[in-house]
Amino acid sequence: MLSAEDGKELKVAVMVSGGGTNLQAIIDAVKEGRIHDTKIVRVISNKADAYALKRAEDAGIEATAVTRSEYGSKEAFDKALLEALEEAGPDLVVLAGFLVVLSPGIIRKYRGRIINIHPSLIPSFCGEGYYGLRVHEEALKRGVRVTGATVHFVDEGCDTGPIIMQKAVEVMPGDTPEILQRRVMEQAEWKILPETIDRIARGEIAIGDVSGGES
Ligand code: GAR
Repeated sequence: MLSAEDGKELKVAVMVSGGGTNLQAIIDAVKEGRIHDTKIVRVISNKADAYALKRAEDAGIEATAVTRSEYGSKEAFDKALLEALEEAGPDLVVLAGFLVVLSPGIIRKYRGRIINIHPSLIPSFCGEGYYGLRVHEEALKRGVRVTGATVHFVDEGCDTGPIIMQKAVEVMPGDTPEILQRRVMEQAEWKILPETIDRIARGEIAIGDVSGGES
């Protein structure tokens, strides 16, 4: 079972691409004891200049950049990402604004142990091309009155894995994509992502039945 058994800490690797506000929410929750028995063992970014790397360093967490441009092929890049993960040896992999689609090799290796935060109520505004601010632009274009965020297990599809937690957030008159993004982060993402990790550490959430072959 994926949890911090018998006083052992849950080892978490966080994968990021950008500002890292979700990473910060996790760091703060661990520090303040809202996430129990958990250690962030590594932060991995696919962008060398991601502010998330600075947040990791400030918190004394080992941080690695693995960028596509360093490698000749997508396969070599995927292999380097897998190696960075294996070196850290996490129990749980958290995608916190990681905007690279994980290779089948990584998903196979960590099946049922990878979670992702997505800034909408899946199955709305998700799948290929829906990431970051674009999700909120599309939600506003469609005129939804309620949006939110979702934490889900990762499978081979894009935002298709089993849903763990969701939180709804109201859309307000006059919202811009930036204003809405901030509200979704504050009211939903920064709450449900740390809460999910804590529930996994406590053994309250069992590993999802993430289909797709061997485990
Ligand atoms: C967050 O809103 C996260 O939900 C989103 O990227 C942002 C990263 O912000 N992820 C996706 O869109 C994944 N499809 P952060 O770097 O400040 O945490």
